[in-house]
Amino acid sequence: MRRLATALVVAAVAGTVATLAACDRTVAGGSTDGATVFRAACASCHGERGKPPQQMAAQLGVRDLTGAEFRARRDRATIEGQVRKGSGNGRMPGFEGALTADQIEAVTAYVLTLGD
Ligand code: HEC
Repeated sequence: MRRLATALVVAAVAGTVATLAACDRTVAGGSTDGATVFRAACASCHGERGKPPQQMAAQLGVRDLTGAEFRARRDRATIEGQVRKGSGNGRMPGFEGALTADQIEAVTAYVLTLGD
């Protein structure tokens, strides 16, 4: 059952990302404000301010972007790579093509401030 729930969440999100990619450059109205892009593209899994809802953490393994463990090892290149390519295990989709280069840069900079 848990596996099914996870599969459903992943399928739903994959659909969203496909939709985002189809209307290229329109995520958050094309905004390059990091917080705005995060709310539009990331908050559904990671929470409004980087702390995932318990259900997302439990079912999908979404990481807490405000925690000390992440903050101690976060850097621009790693975050940007994660946003572009997603996670190797397929649980987080890649946003290359769905977000513009400027949006990826802005959301990366925003993630570097989470938990401050
Ligand atoms: C479908 C849900 C989902 C969405 C949408 C999503 N993520 Fe994730 N994210 C995850 C999951 C799940 C992981 C953990 C992946 C793993 O197990 O490696 C993760 C991991 C990360 C990590 C690595 C954290 C670490 O501990 O190393 C970063 C950074 C990140 N996400 C940023 C973002 C940003 C920025 C966005 C929006 C552009 C975003 N995510 C959108 C689900 C999501």
